[in-house]
Amino acid sequence: MTAQQKAAALRARKGGRPIAALTAYDYPTARLLDEAGVDVLLVGDSLGMVVLGFPDTTHVTLDHMLHHVAAVARAKPSALVIGDLPIHTYDTPQQALETARRLVAAGAEAVKLEGGIRQAEKVRAITSAGIPVIGHLGMLPQRVQEEGGYRKKGKTPEQADAIREGALALIAAGVCAIVFESIIPETARLLTASLSVPTIGIGCGEHTCDGEVAVVTDLLGSYPWFVPPFAKPEADVAAIIREAAARYVARVGG
Ligand code: KIV
Repeated sequence: MTAQQKAAALRARKGGRPIAALTAYDYPTARLLDEAGVDVLLVGDSLGMVVLGFPDTTHVTLDHMLHHVAAVARAKPSALVIGDLPIHTYDTPQQALETARRLVAAGAEAVKLEGGIRQAEKVRAITSAGIPVIGHLGMLPQRVQEEGGYRKKGKTPEQADAIREGALALIAAGVCAIVFESIIPETARLLTASLSVPTIGIGCGEHTCDGEVAVVTDLLGSYPWFVPPFAKPEADVAAIIREAAARYVARVGG
């Protein structure tokens, strides 16, 4: 399937079988997740924290993203590979298109960017060039420093309306899906019911959106130093690594 066909298939999941999306940052993880049937592999700028050891996503550069998108793409997944546009690489429509093209050249099949109305022209520039775009509304991690932390969104009717306006602007500009981050469940459910493209939730409660996305280290329990309250780990990989390494040290060190 071409990138455009995969993006169209994602968009067609609106109201149907829920979308299961996970982040991936490297070749083996991408292969394993793809073999497990994950629909979307997001090379998210969360890699700044859970892979590169930065305090937040504002330290991620385009070079970091290109390196990790290329690694994931080498797994040749059936899943749609989405690459995040890092902060300050989409400040103008022209820059957004240039960045999106570089991510596609590295192997991304779609790109994601954060924000609503103020990003519509940038989304239009990218979709007009035939590159599928995914929006991202609610909590915007690239603005964590201005906002002074990670906060729930959509708590008042005014906040919910602002998210809806942003979503409508993104849809008019051609996005094929929108990530909802940390929007309270009631608002996420209401907005999902009213929008024409799939919403993919993280931190929005279960079954409130058309699908869910999780940071893979939260799912695997491989980044134990910070686990968001909404994470639902399915494994304890940190313990497995520590135990295996301790056994190795004991074997080698006698
Ligand atoms: O970077 C990322 O992992 C993301 C998810 C939180 C959706 O954008």
